Amino acid sequence: MSTTDLSGHIAFVTGASGGLGRHFAITLARAGAKVALAARRPDALKAVAQEIEGFDGRAIAVPLDVTDAASVRAAVEAAETELGPITVLVNNSGVTETVAALDQDEASWDRVLDTNLKGAWLVATEVARHMVRLGHGGSIINIASILGLRQGGQVTAYATSKAALVQLTKQLALELARYQIRVNALAPGYIETDINREFFGTDAGKALIRRIPQRRLGQAADLDGPLLLLASDGSRYMTGSVLAVDGGHLVGSL
Ligand SMILES: NC(=O)c1ccc[n+]([C@@H]2O[C@H](COP(=O)([O-])OP(=O)(O)OC[C@H]3O[C@@H](n4cnc5c(N)ncnc54)[C@H](OP(=O)(O)O)[C@@H]3O)[C@@H](O)[C@H]2O)c1
Repeated sequence: MSTTDLSGHIAFVTGASGGLGRHFAITLARAGAKVALAARRPDALKAVAQEIEGFDGRAIAVPLDVTDAASVRAAVEAAETELGPITVLVNNSGVTETVAALDQDEASWDRVLDTNLKGAWLVATEVARHMVRLGHGGSIINIASILGLRQGGQVTAYATSKAALVQLTKQLALELARYQIRVNALAPGYIETDINREFFGTDAGKALIRRIPQRRLGQAADLDGPLLLLASDGSRYMTGSVLAVDGGHLVGSL
């Protein structure tokens, strides 16, 4: 765990109801930030809020569907009313569909792009408008993926959405720098979570792990340092960066 101090910061974490988003929220709260936990499942969010309150952190649950502009506006407003001006956004909500490119239907494509790209754009721009209006600057962290930088089978929509998210990060970094808003991306490699643990126990999963230069899956805690760096003043001269956290997967030998 880093000792980075985020006291006085208000973080808004999308997709905080489970997986990496839950871990990011807990990490930021342990560093002293007050955290708005946002996603579609209120009960799961409340459970995470209770975990955070269990170590005397401060967190609230905010219902949010990132694909719906009105929901995004209401969630950001609710978070600021309750906690104060947002200074850190972790744009983490994301979905994937594992399907061959020629078998993917329009609804499946739209679900992935609407959540991972349009959703991230809606939340980032809404939060940034608040930061600009209040004039305090801030840090926006988009959770991309190494699949936004390389290719993988049966994830065309997902990889396309993450590549676009990388470009969205750079576009917003350019336009928002004048307002002291930094926009960076974290690009995790394969991180072990509840939903992929079973796959990584299979022969195909084990073969994939052998292609990672560090020969192991990432753990959520491996993202703590990079997350806290991007959230904090330690990255004050970084904007438009894409940090790969992947055990060297992107530099694997051909
Ligand atoms: N795990 C990995 O190895 C890995 C690697 C690289 C990148 N990533 C990225 O990391 C992020 C989190 O992944 P994960 O593995 O933690 O996935 P996960 O366990 O499936 O969590 C996804 C989160 O997104 C939320 N979400 C989905 N649709 C939403 C919507 N329309 N509105 C609001 N929230 C929504 C879900 O909450 P609700 O269902 O409650 O709405 C859930 O909390 C994703 O962006 C993913 O692409 C993960």
